[in-house]
Amino acid sequence: MNQQNYQDAQVYIEKLRGFTAELAEVLGHTPKCFVLTFGCQQNEADSEKLAGMAQDMGYELCDDPADADLIAVNTCAIREHAEQKALSIVGQYKHLKAKKPSLIIAVCGCMVAQEHRREDIKHKYPYVDLTFGTASLHRFPELLWQKIARSRRIFCPEETEYIVAEGMPITRSSDYRAWVSIMYGCNNFCSYCIVPYVRGRERSRDKDEVIAEVRDLVARGYKDITLLGQNVNSYAKGKDYDFADLLSELDKIEGEYVLRFMTSHPKDASYKLIDVMASSKHIAHQFHLPLQSGSDSILKAMNRHYDKARYLDIVRYIREKMPDAALSSDIIVGFPGETDADFEDTMDILRTVRFDMLFSFIYSPRKGTPAAEKEQIDPKIKGERFDRLLALQHDIALEKNQPMVGKTIRVLCDGPSKNNPEIYSGREEGNKIVFFTATPEQVGKFVQVKIDRADAFALWGEIVN
Ligand code: SAH
Ligand code: SF4
Ligand code: F3S
Repeated sequence: MNQQNYQDAQVYIEKLRGFTAELAEVLGHTPKCFVLTFGCQQNEADSEKLAGMAQDMGYELCDDPADADLIAVNTCAIREHAEQKALSIVGQYKHLKAKKPSLIIAVCGCMVAQEHRREDIKHKYPYVDLTFGTASLHRFPELLWQKIARSRRIFCPEETEYIVAEGMPITRSSDYRAWVSIMYGCNNFCSYCIVPYVRGRERSRDKDEVIAEVRDLVARGYKDITLLGQNVNSYAKGKDYDFADLLSELDKIEGEYVLRFMTSHPKDASYKLIDVMASSKHIAHQFHLPLQSGSDSILKAMNRHYDKARYLDIVRYIREKMPDAALSSDIIVGFPGETDADFEDTMDILRTVRFDMLFSFIYSPRKGTPAAEKEQIDPKIKGERFDRLLALQHDIALEKNQPMVGKTIRVLCDGPSKNNPEIYSGREEGNKIVFFTATPEQVGKFVQVKIDRADAFALWGEIVN
């Protein structure tokens, strides 16, 4: 796999620094950049690089698009709703551009890795200056410079040669929680999923690069580090080490921190990985293992390459080695061809496994994927199934959370909750949300919380010493 270094972009960064310095004189202040993110953790990680590159080019980050001289919208294409949300926000920027014609609007990420969406932007959003997909992330300075120097709109076609770009500056949104991408792309082509088309072929970062990044984060006091990849189990395929080896290496790093990872594909999750987790010092006893469906025939149609028996076997092994493990999953409801019986199979497996947390989605046809060509299920049926699934999971999660009452657990304190500034929120090892009273000095630190109340979605308690 080709590796490219961000330093190759240095010539453009220099030019842009000149540009932003001149702009600063005209404006009377440093030009500002606003980055907006849709989608998954991988996209959040990418946005931290966009922000890092923007600062490197001489922009200051801002929280209000109305103040910005450069806006980067990092989009998601996983479901129709995600695309519509991004397009609607981009639509709202029209009036910003009208007020400030020098504003540069870039739309990047998964949505614009699709040609039909680039065409939409080209024709229906004439005030968008620049689009580039995920594989061109490291080319942000070069593409922005092209836009400025040639003063014309740039629609970057998808890369066909996928590289691993190292050395991009990262402006992290937290100073105690961090994302670390360990691989990019996906080769699995689940029949419903757009990701392999918009993120390209699977490629892994070098083990030493990942270890150096995590070591640095721990040294800087980061407490909760999540390794990211669409299927971390195929990390470093073809090399003489695998994901479990990477985890055992990382676990040796000394410090007070928790290591997590996502996502793990059930077809490749290994006993070795579970053994490494069980005997580790830092790896959270938390497993996100997307099931998608409990019906073997639907799993086959989804091209998932595992069946119900294989899935249940991994769950059995996880629980045998880590009885305290928190298990979570993703489910798609209303995949083409899903019969009532198929759906009941999903309900059954939920009752059997009893996930701590479940992320459920109504199937959304994605242009260019095989499942989108199939006959679709009536939206009303999809909706009814979805509601039944949520109701079942609500009861299961409540039953799973109740026994936590009375226990004292370690929680990483995040800060005042959205609805009540007196009440702080944080996450425990299984990644469940916990509410408690705390002080600003405790933010970003581990605290011991005695749980006194639980519902299906959260735990409440008080800090104990
Ligand atoms: N790589 C991860 C999933 C990334 S996408 C994995 O394989 O587990 C996150 C979740 O979005 C998926 O697990 C799936 O449940 C859901 N999803 C993906 N495509 C979808 C679609 N077309 N409609 C509805 N949900 C979808
Ligand atoms: Fe999509 Fe499947 Fe790849 Fe996950 S493994 S990103 S669901 S194609
Ligand atoms: Fe993530 Fe959405 Fe892309 S879920 S990989 S940002 S399509």
